[in-house]
Amino acid sequence: MAKHVIDNEYLKEIDKARRDLRALISTTNCAPLMLRLAWHDAGTYDAKTRTGGPNGSIRNVEELNHTANKGLQKAVEFCEEVKTKHPILSYADLYQLAGVVAVEVTGGPTIDFIPGRKDLLESPPEGRLPDAKQGASHLREIFYRMGLTDKDIVALSGGHTLGKAHLERSGFEGHWTREPLKFDNSYFVELLKADSKDLLKLPTDKALVEDPKFLKYVEVYAKDEDAFFEDYAASHKKLSELGLTSKPVAENRPTLALGVIAIVIATTVVILGYLDEVNRKIK
Ligand code: HEM
Repeated sequence: MAKHVIDNEYLKEIDKARRDLRALISTTNCAPLMLRLAWHDAGTYDAKTRTGGPNGSIRNVEELNHTANKGLQKAVEFCEEVKTKHPILSYADLYQLAGVVAVEVTGGPTIDFIPGRKDLLESPPEGRLPDAKQGASHLREIFYRMGLTDKDIVALSGGHTLGKAHLERSGFEGHWTREPLKFDNSYFVELLKADSKDLLKLPTDKALVEDPKFLKYVEVYAKDEDAFFEDYAASHKKLSELGLTSKPVAENRPTLALGVIAIVIATTVVILGYLDEVNRKIK
């Protein structure tokens, strides 16, 4: 497992990589693919065994060859271009940063990003990502395994506001919304419409209107884009931080520095006071 120290230098590289990703994603229109890469690296997490999750293992040929990951090779290659310029970053952080940037550059909410994910070369067993042909209970089984909730399931499914399905990758074809490069709440608006037959609805998308608990959220998000953006940003952050325990060292630095300064001042005051006392006694 590669070790990455999250110091100020690392944080600076994150900022630079963020800028490179913005440029790369907007010039190549690969936001949907990058978001799918971030989600598929993270979505294998198993909270019980603390295995899988956003650890960069999706770059392994073995995992890339899992049926669910068809088509993601290109996204891994795009990220490699950025990794070459910023080698100190972990793949795990880079893939999650790419997901966050993909949402932002297409007009979606700002998602708080915390670095510190460790890279792993070991891939989880195949079959941890959701199967689009199934329904609500399968969705719950998969997302609850990660430690996520019904609200997370619906909010994150809103990621399908971007991109499309490719017959040769998943066996499905078409896009979910009329502007697949714009991140907005139209996925939910279209889900509730009976007359959007030309748009794609996977069985797992349909499950969101068939299940009463999921439907509650779909209705809110279709009506209120701000509510969707707020919940989406929170759920995406959760997904991208599954299994992440370490806090950036740099965050603690100002507190540490202040503490040291306070001790030095206090010690000086005590010494000066003592010297003053001694001085007075001598006189
Ligand atoms: C809820 C369970 C989910 C299922 C069953 C599912 C299934 C699929 C399928 C079958 C495709 C088509 C792949 C292709 O043919 O290229 C796809 C694409 C996509 N998914 Fe999901 N997905 C799910 C959740 C998510 C989540 C949580 C996100 C992100 C937050 C997401 C983001 C995307 C994006 C952006 C694409 C388009 C990729 C492209 O245009 O190349 N999906 N998904």
